[in-house]
Amino acid sequence: MALPRILSERLTIPAIAAPMTTVSGPELVIAACRSGVVGSFPTHNAASTDQLDHWLYQIHAALDGSGRRAAPVAPNLVVHRTNERLRADLDCLVRHRVELVITSVGSPKPVIAPLHDIGCLVFADVAGVTHAQRALEAGVDGLVLLTAGAGGQTGWANPFAFVRAVRRYFDGPIVLAGGISDGTSILAAQVLGADLAYLGTRFIATSESNAGDDYKAALIGSTLDDVRLSTRVGGIPASLLASWLALDDAAKPDAAESGAAETGADDSAGFAQERLLRNRTAWSAGHSVAGVDAITSVADLVDTIAQQYAQARHGLFGRLVDGGPSAGPQVLPMAKH
Ligand SMILES: Cc1cc2nc3c(=O)[nH]c(=O)nc-3n(C[C@H](O)[C@H](O)[C@H](O)COP(=O)(O)O)c2cc1C
Repeated sequence: MALPRILSERLTIPAIAAPMTTVSGPELVIAACRSGVVGSFPTHNAASTDQLDHWLYQIHAALDGSGRRAAPVAPNLVVHRTNERLRADLDCLVRHRVELVITSVGSPKPVIAPLHDIGCLVFADVAGVTHAQRALEAGVDGLVLLTAGAGGQTGWANPFAFVRAVRRYFDGPIVLAGGISDGTSILAAQVLGADLAYLGTRFIATSESNAGDDYKAALIGSTLDDVRLSTRVGGIPASLLASWLALDDAAKPDAAESGAAETGADDSAGFAQERLLRNRTAWSAGHSVAGVDAITSVADLVDTIAQQYAQARHGLFGRLVDGGPSAGPQVLPMAKH
């Protein structure tokens, strides 16, 4: 199935700057969309639906004035039944006629009809094949496959197995999430059968992200060995930096909350994203932290990734045409480690 035109014709690289609690706000979204990458942000990052309304005006005004057709904006809606703002935020997205919504934490079913009515695509993030099947039955247009080592509330599935399993029964848009930080990995995701890559951690270390300087510096100083799976924040398994976990609890502004969340994953314990928000100082990162070696502007980052992507394509096709199976892999420089 062909990729929808808003994704096939308006992107510089086949990628989405993934939604991140606390980290993604209007500045990051505007910069991503201007650079030709889908810009996503969780609606709950806005303090209220009124602020969400204001953000969407601000984002669309900035992009409309940018001269070229920017990449789509994709608000991320937590569809968990405990999200008290769900109806109001959904109505706001409908009023602004957004082009793409990414749902997470729950069934996308209740939001699909109103969004389809305005011609908006709905992608759901999923962490397993049953979950993916349910989302498709509900009527989503695309899937974000969360895999092992992803930042935030991570998946656990191996990306090779997950993409191939879903491709057996779904030929629509697939976005691969987890471990992707450069152009070579984006091409690899496409070879595997995904259409787009979801990059979270890599965009934290940009000048437009809302992450604090110490968090950005910690990303640069960390390897993938420093990523820990922990229920410490929000009560559900999330990828967190060892350096943050090692901080004295007293040094963490949200110490009481992080301690309270240690007890484990309990769906009834409250709206997970809200609990994450209360832990807004937590340093989350995925295995893709291995590719974070500097803080740059979003435009420079996308430019670098686009060059890597073109180089990787060139290398791959060169190998296929000239070398055949015996030609060794072309080793492209990786940022660090
Ligand atoms: C700090 C942080 C916050 C996140 N918050 C959200 C969120 O609010 N909603 C969501 O759907 N995913 C969230 N995620 C997951 C990302 O959208 C994405 O799946 C993940 O970052 C991909 O893996 P990567 O970090 O290795 O690129 C978050 C990830 C990080 C690192």
